[in-house]
Parts: sequence; structure tokens; C-alpha cells
Amino acid sequence: MEKIIVKGGNRLSGEVEISGAKNAVVGILPATLLAEDVCRIENIPNISDVTAMIKILHQMGAEVKMINKNTIEIDTRYIHSNVVAHEMSKQLRASYYFIGALLGRYNHAKVAMPGGCNFGVRPIDQHIKGFESIGATVTMEENAMIDARADMLIGAPVYFDVVSVGATMNVMLAAVKAKGLTVIENPAKEPHIVDLANFLNSMGADVRGAGTDTIKIYGVDKLHGCEYSIIPDQIEAGTFMVAAAATKGDVLIKNVIPKHLESISAKLIESGATVEEFDDAVRVIANETPHRCSIKTMPHPGFPTDMQPQFTILLSIANGNSMVSESVWDNRFRYVAQLHRMGAKITVDGKSAFVEGVEKLKGAPVKADDLRAGAAMIIAGLVASGTTEIEEIYHIQRGYDNIIEKMRSLGAEIELRTIPDSEKSVLGVS
Ligand code: EPU
Repeated sequence: MEKIIVKGGNRLSGEVEISGAKNAVVGILPATLLAEDVCRIENIPNISDVTAMIKILHQMGAEVKMINKNTIEIDTRYIHSNVVAHEMSKQLRASYYFIGALLGRYNHAKVAMPGGCNFGVRPIDQHIKGFESIGATVTMEENAMIDARADMLIGAPVYFDVVSVGATMNVMLAAVKAKGLTVIENPAKEPHIVDLANFLNSMGADVRGAGTDTIKIYGVDKLHGCEYSIIPDQIEAGTFMVAAAATKGDVLIKNVIPKHLESISAKLIESGATVEEFDDAVRVIANETPHRCSIKTMPHPGFPTDMQPQFTILLSIANGNSMVSESVWDNRFRYVAQLHRMGAKITVDGKSAFVEGVEKLKGAPVKADDLRAGAAMIIAGLVASGTTEIEEIYHIQRGYDNIIEKMRSLGAEIELRTIPDSEKSVLGVS
């Protein structure tokens, strides 16, 4: 078993380089299937979700060549399968993007229900509604295999009842090769939606309006290979911004798109930090106890739900009481139980949390309930007195490239420790 050990108390300072965006790359990798050609992709983050996706592509017959640690070439000319089995699909949420990509390529996909972080029910009804709108028939087979097929995909209006990142990207993947025009109304507008559209367009697709209220996709017969560089990860950047503010640090966060960080910057400024913006960097400086403030998560351009646990740590040591309202997921406060072990005073009521700022958190054994909750535990460890031991860190490794080394380079006392399996988990987790 691996644990992350954090000794708190150090102020973060220095420079850190942000990696490519997880939630963009997990859509772009399956999209390479549509090229039936060679795609060269740069700025790939070194995270286990990418490893899992590359394995799936490889099993389907793709040739994947590592050019260097962040650049790969994927040749999808000789794909021999349109199936993603349970064993692979359960490893990550984004395996559902193979449905859209395989529908686009073969008009037929068989993909097992995806895995991923547990925030309560994670329906895919909007994905299915979108596929059906453009002519596919989607059935759920007994063994939790989703079978999506069409004689021909035909462009059509698609209206989403809820704003969904996954459904928007999945329908884009299928619709780029449909016959005629698909118009997506009420799409998600996250930076990764725009990045996928740009990638598809680099392969010869005709996607317009990504990032706005309406996406228009003019279907094309054939796509081709391309060279592309993934955008920087908005949430990794936000995580370092909050870590800098919470530790009263001074950190220059490089390789970012400041526009993508505006909602996070605004809240940090409200909490008393200074945020300086440069062309492709932001600097966060904080000298005082964070001021209380409230956050409400919203689809982009609102405050991202994927920053909610990290920001809650900052509020847990603020000088007053704050409210955190989660409006995207039903159950994204499970991690609060871990924070209670560290002395945080937080009361959860449904989709809201009331946070009473305390002077200090204290180190404790905790676990990463999910990816962002795991990042939040690291920040909690950084600001706590004593030592925090984090278990179940595979969640963190799914989406943060080298977080331990990056934190350490900023002065954090943090390490990865391998514990013999014979030694029992302090928390009783397996
Ligand atoms: N929803 C439906 N029906 C659907 C799809 C979604 O009701 O068919 C609901 C969900 O239950 C949720 C809301 O719509 O309440 C938003 O879900 P969305 O589909 O946008 O989420 P997702 O695509 O499954 C992605 C990210 C998540 C991030 C959300 C929201 C990926 C692989 N995952 O999930 O990222 O929280 O968008 O921004 O892109 C993370 O990176 O830690 C993470 C969990």
C-alpha cells in the first residue's frame, strides 16, 4: 500500500509548471479513433487515467508510440475492435467517450458501464438522449454493456436537459461524422469542451461555437491525423493556487490560461490573497489568515465543482464562517468526515456545508475519498500542525501529474511511502 505523508507548517514558495488537462486528454485520446490515421499529441499529463486509456486503445489495435514523456503518437489505422470490456472500462469515468468515438467511426460501439469517482448516482441519460437524437439505438445489455448502433448517424438538434460535460463531448465525438448538421443546445462550456472541438477541427471536422450556448457540428465524411497540444489543466492550476493561499505562500503557477482561472482567482482575492495575472502564468501571494467567503459551484464559467474540496480547506482555517454550496453533484461532501479527524468544524446539510473557521488543523490519518478530495487532503496536511498520512492515494494519481515532486519543489515536506501489505491500514481500508 502507498501513502502520502505530509508534515505541515511550511509556506509554499517558488514556481510550478502545470501539466496538460486531464479532462481534455480523456476526450481527445478516444477521438483519435475517428482519424483512422496518425495523431501526434503533446502536453499529455503523466496520470493513471491516461495510462488506462492508452491501454484500451492499444487493446483495440492502435499503435501507440511514446515520443517523449509528454508526447505520444497514436496510429488508429488498424483498429480491430469496437468493444471496451468491463475490466478496462471500470478503471475510469471517461471510458464512456469510447461510445461516441466508436459510433462515429463504426456506427456501432459496445462499451461497459464506466467507473470513476463516486459522487452518488452518475447517470448517462443525456449521453443516450444525444446519441438517439442523431439516429442511434442505445440498449443496456444484461452484463452492463452499453450497445449503441446506427445504420447511419444523421445530424439533428440535440437539447440537453442538464448541462453535462460528458454528454456534450460524447455527442460531439459521434456527430462529427454524421450526415448533415447537429446543433447542440444547452451544452457544457468548460475549457475541455473547447479543446476537444479544436482537436476535432485539427483532424478536419467542422465544429463551431464550442464554449458558447450553441454548438454546431457540420458532419464530414472523413477525418485525418494531426498534431495537437493539450491545454493546461485548469483544476491542477487551481489546486496549486489554493495551496499557495492556504499556506500563506508566494507561488508563480506557470503554463496556465489565466482566463480559465478567473472564477478561482476571484474567490481567492475575496479571501484576501493577491492574484497577479501574466500571459501564461498566475502568481498567488497571501500573508494573512484567509477571510471568510462563500462559494457555490456551477458549470463553467462558474466556480468549478472540481475545486470545491480544495477551497473548503482554505475556508476551514478562515477568520469566520463560510457556506459552500454544491450545485453540480449530489454527494460531494464525503471527504468532510476526514477533515473532522483533523479538527475542522464543518456541518454538511445535503448539498451545502457550513464551515466554521478554526485557527489550525491538526495532522491525522485520513484517506482520499476521490481525486479532488485527495488533493484537498494534501492541502489540509500542508496547513495542519504535525503529520498527515493519506491513504487510498490511487485516486490522486488518476489526475495529478507528479503532485508530490511539484509540492516538494515549492518547499512542502511531503513524500510517498510504500507500506508493506502486511502492515494494517490505520483507517482499516484495504
Ligand atoms: N448528469 C445527468 N445525466 C447525464 C450526465 C450528467 O443527469 O447523462 C448530471 C450529473 O449527475 C451531474 C451533472 O449532470 O449532476 C454534471 O455531470 P457531467 O456530465 O458534467 O459530469 P461528467 O462529465 O461525468 C466531468 C468531469 C468531472 C467534473 C464534471 C463537472 C471528466 C472525465 N469528468 O464529469 O471531473 O466534476 O464534469 O464539471 O471530464 C474530476 O476531474 O475530478 C471530475 C470528477
